[in-house]
Amino acid sequence: MAELDFSRRAELEELIDGPCSYEDLRDCLRDLSWVNRLTLAYRPTMEWLERVADAQASSSSALRIVDVGCGYGDTLRRIERWAKKRGLAVELIGVDLNANAVRAARKATSAGSAIVWVVGDAYSCAAAADADVVIASLVMHHMAELEIVRFLAWAEHAAQLGGSSTTCIARRFRTTCSAWRCGAHGGSGSSVRME
Ligand SMILES: C[S@@+](CC[C@H](N)C(=O)[O-])C[C@H]1O[C@@H](n2cnc3c(N)ncnc32)[C@H](O)[C@@H]1O
Repeated sequence: MAELDFSRRAELEELIDGPCSYEDLRDCLRDLSWVNRLTLAYRPTMEWLERVADAQASSSSALRIVDVGCGYGDTLRRIERWAKKRGLAVELIGVDLNANAVRAARKATSAGSAIVWVVGDAYSCAAAADADVVIASLVMHHMAELEIVRFLAWAEHAAQLGGSSTTCIARRFRTTCSAWRCGAHGGSGSSVRME
């Protein structure tokens, strides 16, 4: 396998970018939720949300959090548990372009959850337009350069309408990538490919 060059953006297609069965996509996203857990990927988002929640402590309305490219939905489920524990009122909306990702997220979510799952892009999701908080984790590498510029501008605008201009973008790191490669190749039955 060729060494990845981290000095510039890699234009690599992933299995989930192409036509892919529901089962393959679900398994990829479920594997990814394990990687998120193992690499403590939720931590920056949760630490940042703590600060947002503190700043909003006097607000009487629920904090509306939109996860763009929610995939398997594990981040929002984590946020829902955190909010419940903290006694914080939240409205959680997961948006994903891929209907099969939304299907997998719904199936992985317990019946008692209030998370709303939406198929589509962020721009056409009415509920996302007045978000307090927009998060997007491991998503922008799926976007072309110009699309990233458009998305960031949209996220800033959407979050500002809701009273917060903060946008949390989780980044990929060399160590995460290496661990991901090991897991993808070592795990039996993994449907994830990095070539
Ligand atoms: C690698 S997964 C990441 C899932 C999840 N956010 C996580 O951290 O595990 C990327 C997800 O982003 C979705 N996606 C890519 N471009 C998107 C866009 N423009 N709008 C909404 N979803 C998008 C894909 O369908 C996929 O489910």
